[in-house]
Amino acid sequence: MERTQDCRGGSVGAQRVHFASHLQTMAKMEVKTSLLDNMIGVGDMVLLEPLNEETFINNLKKRFDHNEIYTYIGSVVISVNPYRSLPIYSPEKVEDYRNRNFYELSPHIFALSDEAYRSLRDQDKDQCILITGESGAGKTEASKLVMSYVAAVCGKGAEVNQVKEQLLQSNPVLEAFGNAKTVRNDNSSRFGKYMDIEFDFKGDPLGGVISNYLLEKSRVVKQPRGERNFHVFYQLLSGASEELLHKLKLEQDFSRYNYLSLDSAKVNGVDDAANFRTVRNAMQIVGFMDHEAESVLEVVAAVLKLGNIEFKPESRVNGLDESKIKDKNELKEICELTGIDQSVLERAFSFRTVEAKQEKVSTTLNVAQAYYARDALAKNLYSRLFSWLVNRINESIKAQTKVRKKVMGVLDIYGFEIFEDNSFEQFIINYCNEKLQQIFIELTLKEEQEEYIREDIEWTHIDYFNNAIICDLIENNTNGILAMLDEECLRPGTVTDDTFLEKLNQVCATHQHFESRMSRCSRFLNDTSLPHSCFRIQHYAGKVLYQVEGFVDKNNDLLYRDLSQAMWKAGHALIKSLFPEGNPAKINLKRPPTAGSQFKASVATLMKNLQTKNPNYIRCIKPNDKKAAHVFTESLVCHQIRYLGLLENVRVRRAGYAFRQAYEPCLERYKMLCKQTWPHWKGPARSGVEVLFNELEIPMEEYSFGRSKIFIRNPRTLFALEDLRKQRLEDLATLIQKIYRGWKCRTHFLLMKKSQIVIAAWCRRYAQQKRYQQIKASALAIQSYIRGWKARKILRELKHQKRCKAAATTIAAYWHGTQARRELKRLKEEARRKHAVAVIWAYWLGLKVRREYRKYFRANAGKKIYEFTLQRIVQKYFLEMKNKMPSLSPIDKNWPSRPYLFLDSTHKELKRIFHLWRCKKYRDQFTDQQKLIYEEKLEASELFKDKKALYPSSVGQPFQGAYLEINKNPKYKKLKDAIEEKIIIAEVVNKINRANGKSTSRIFLLTNNNLLLADQKSGQIKSEVPLVDVTKVSMSSQNDGFFAVHLKEGSEAASKGDFLFSSDHLIEMATKLYRTTLSQTKQKLNIEISDEFLVQFRQDKVCVKFIQGNQKNGSVPTCKRKNNRLLEVAVP
Ligand SMILES: Nc1ncnc2c1ncn2[C@@H]1O[C@H](COP(=O)(O)OP(=O)(O)OP(=O)(O)O)[C@@H](O)[C@H]1O
Ligand SMILES: [Mg+2]
Repeated sequence: MERTQDCRGGSVGAQRVHFASHLQTMAKMEVKTSLLDNMIGVGDMVLLEPLNEETFINNLKKRFDHNEIYTYIGSVVISVNPYRSLPIYSPEKVEDYRNRNFYELSPHIFALSDEAYRSLRDQDKDQCILITGESGAGKTEASKLVMSYVAAVCGKGAEVNQVKEQLLQSNPVLEAFGNAKTVRNDNSSRFGKYMDIEFDFKGDPLGGVISNYLLEKSRVVKQPRGERNFHVFYQLLSGASEELLHKLKLEQDFSRYNYLSLDSAKVNGVDDAANFRTVRNAMQIVGFMDHEAESVLEVVAAVLKLGNIEFKPESRVNGLDESKIKDKNELKEICELTGIDQSVLERAFSFRTVEAKQEKVSTTLNVAQAYYARDALAKNLYSRLFSWLVNRINESIKAQTKVRKKVMGVLDIYGFEIFEDNSFEQFIINYCNEKLQQIFIELTLKEEQEEYIREDIEWTHIDYFNNAIICDLIENNTNGILAMLDEECLRPGTVTDDTFLEKLNQVCATHQHFESRMSRCSRFLNDTSLPHSCFRIQHYAGKVLYQVEGFVDKNNDLLYRDLSQAMWKAGHALIKSLFPEGNPAKINLKRPPTAGSQFKASVATLMKNLQTKNPNYIRCIKPNDKKAAHVFTESLVCHQIRYLGLLENVRVRRAGYAFRQAYEPCLERYKMLCKQTWPHWKGPARSGVEVLFNELEIPMEEYSFGRSKIFIRNPRTLFALEDLRKQRLEDLATLIQKIYRGWKCRTHFLLMKKSQIVIAAWCRRYAQQKRYQQIKASALAIQSYIRGWKARKILRELKHQKRCKAAATTIAAYWHGTQARRELKRLKEEARRKHAVAVIWAYWLGLKVRREYRKYFRANAGKKIYEFTLQRIVQKYFLEMKNKMPSLSPIDKNWPSRPYLFLDSTHKELKRIFHLWRCKKYRDQFTDQQKLIYEEKLEASELFKDKKALYPSSVGQPFQGAYLEINKNPKYKKLKDAIEEKIIIAEVVNKINRANGKSTSRIFLLTNNNLLLADQKSGQIKSEVPLVDVTKVSMSSQNDGFFAVHLKEGSEAASKGDFLFSSDHLIEMATKLYRTTLSQTKQKLNIEISDEFLVQFRQDKVCVKFIQGNQKNGSVPTCKRKNNRLLEVAVP
């Protein structure tokens, strides 16, 4: 106030300066907002007063009713599932929360995401975002919101956008294969997911890595009432085109498939067909090739169809029951789809082979065992497909650089579950949630404690329930439930679920969180809520009753070896790769690790990983059990708040101090409450806050000064400060209003005064201007008259001078003209006379010559002269030709040009004769051997010229035949001894492997009667084919060395099938083969040149197709086995 009065008394300039700074300060205050502004209920539970369960829930409910679904406990975000879409995730909201402090705006998941992202980018701290809550609480949605926020605020650019798009699009793919409708959630995640998003030093995303945890595969074969199988099955059947369904041998009707539950096949508000298109599109964006996506769908189809295989009992002679497949049609279609030999699969469903050391024992399966085997296969096929999908996505999204990366991990793992029937899966899921609760307890307490230590503040311990004891009950290596289960699974003798329960009853009876009717603990002997075949665990989130049935089987996760071997034999590349243990070459008699121990190990790795990162918590709460909007069931929320330990969380947070804030923002917010600090504080922020708190006489025990923050013990103090601030802001507003009004009136007056002066000045100026213009105009008129008069006078004079000059010029011109014409006339006369003299002289001379020579001429003189002239010309032509003759090389195309048109035909004939003559000369030099070579070359030309693109390059190569000097090389002595005939060709060729298109080197030998193939290293003969059995040679028309040698059907040599070779000397080899066959068998060998031909490989006919390939492998043609029927050769 003092200051403002000063301002009034001061000069106008000084007032303006003060006023401006005042306004600036006010503007600053307007921009800075706080969580505390326009708050519904309390945005941060830490500020809740009084704090108890009722106020906590009421606060959540009040906020939920006003669409405020997010609430803080310090830095933890509580999210209540709204079950409807709220307009709080728009791009504008993203902008609002971008680069703002955590407590600056009302609580939001974006604030947490922003805080985590900035801490990662600016402070180089790896982050993890832990999203917990029970099934349907909104974890998956929250994880997607976090990812989309981070994608929206991080760097941009074509490459970065592609990475972001791939990361985001991995969600629909994984959700289609890993999510299903359960009674709790229409889109329940049935697998755990942890995704590391990797960033570079600028904070641009580089890629990601996804880890998946234990897919609930039992769902594939059986679903509880009211639930569905995994989404992808329904999406495929509803969304695939007729053509695709036909290809996959599927029908659209769900009821055709035993594995699909029918009572809840349609989910309200879910369009499976549209989702199918979304998933296919997402797969494409993530980077799946078309054939990969198709393979995946084929496996899905195969799983569906497996469920339709049914068995019937059949008694055998030895009294044993055996199962038989009822209808083999389905089996046949599965085999066609997967490329498995029907008999192999059929046998795998009827027999089980047990292998121990060197012995193999085969036993028949009864009907129950056959069904077990079928379901085990379907489950394994699907869960392995899922893991393959995760790996494939990882391959696409992995960071391409090796630079150091910053990592943000997002954990969305299945929520805590209590069903009517809880089995092994729920046990595992709940164990995982126990571990997460454990890490929450550890990290929040640790973090809080560390902050106090960092800030030099005293810390008082707070009691809370530590669930470490429950984790120990499950995971202890010596007597934990998982260890007991493993021990039971590995024990020899009869092992059943009941023996497992008995063991638990013995070992865990005294544990205070373990309950079982048969345990030695008398507490539960009469507990009727506890059936005999069950045990109960008191989890941190409530008691769960587990049916022991199926624990042993599910932990063993047994797939009969016959089935894995059958799968490995599949022609379907993807299925084959999913069952590597089926490879007989890699038989491993060791038991694979159990499902439980695998999961335990992966959870332990996850926990270790999370502990190295800075945690950010999102605690999801489910407001009701009906998946309904606007419904807040207090009892349900109360239960979740209790087991999540949220109240303890608030207490821990408040035990020391309820509120903390860095000094700068605190001073900025409250500085108007103290004269010394308002409007500016010059010293350090901390001393400013000290002065402020002293001035306000806040009791010393209410606050503490940390290193960088002020800690306020009681929320009441903060609210009192807030009230004071509100009051003071009102006063300040009045003050500003007063000053503003005064300033406005004065400004108006000054403006009027200034305006009057300006108007007067303008009027005077106008009058003077007019007078001046009049004088100026008169002066100009007079001036122009005088100038005009002067100019006219000069003009007259100049005109006279010009006329005199023109007259003189005209007279001179006429005079020159007359003289020139006279001279011309004289010259013409002289020329005419000279011409006349010359003509007369010529006539005279002619007359004289004619008179003198008349006696010498006869009648035919003209003809003679003509002939003579002709003769001379021809003579001259031949003499000149002699000197201009081209060289004797038959390929020399030079020939002198024709001198006279009439010699045209002679010239051409001469050229022809000369060429024939020099060719003969050339031939005469040949030895017999050379003649043979040229005959071969000629033959090659007839066979391949203009038919095969490789031919021209072979013309210059001499045909050598025996490239390998078998006679001289001692390595091939054995080979040489084995062959008695003359060797026509000995050369190393590549023999193309029929199975995979790869090549092996072989020695190719052609003798008079046989074609032999020998091993290149050992020289041992691998195949011998008599030439009479060779029916045809096929090759492409392109520039490659591939050729197939077709053998006569039925011949002994043809039993292994035709040969496919590639050679650098294809033209020579084919020509020699042709000539040798012709001379030996008197039959012309058929040489087929085509870019697509069939080759007989054992039973199969395989099409070899030549395509104009890419340049990836340089100039070498590559051969690839595409499928059963097609071998593709890419020719560059
Ligand atoms: N923030 C939100 N806004 C609107 N609807 C939401 C939100 N969060 C969740 N939901 C709704 O709740 C449903 C269940 O959420 P979500 O699938 O995320 O649960 P979850 O915790 O992942 O469950 P589970 O453990 O079974 O996977 C969603 O399908 C969606 O309809
Ligand atoms: Mg989920």
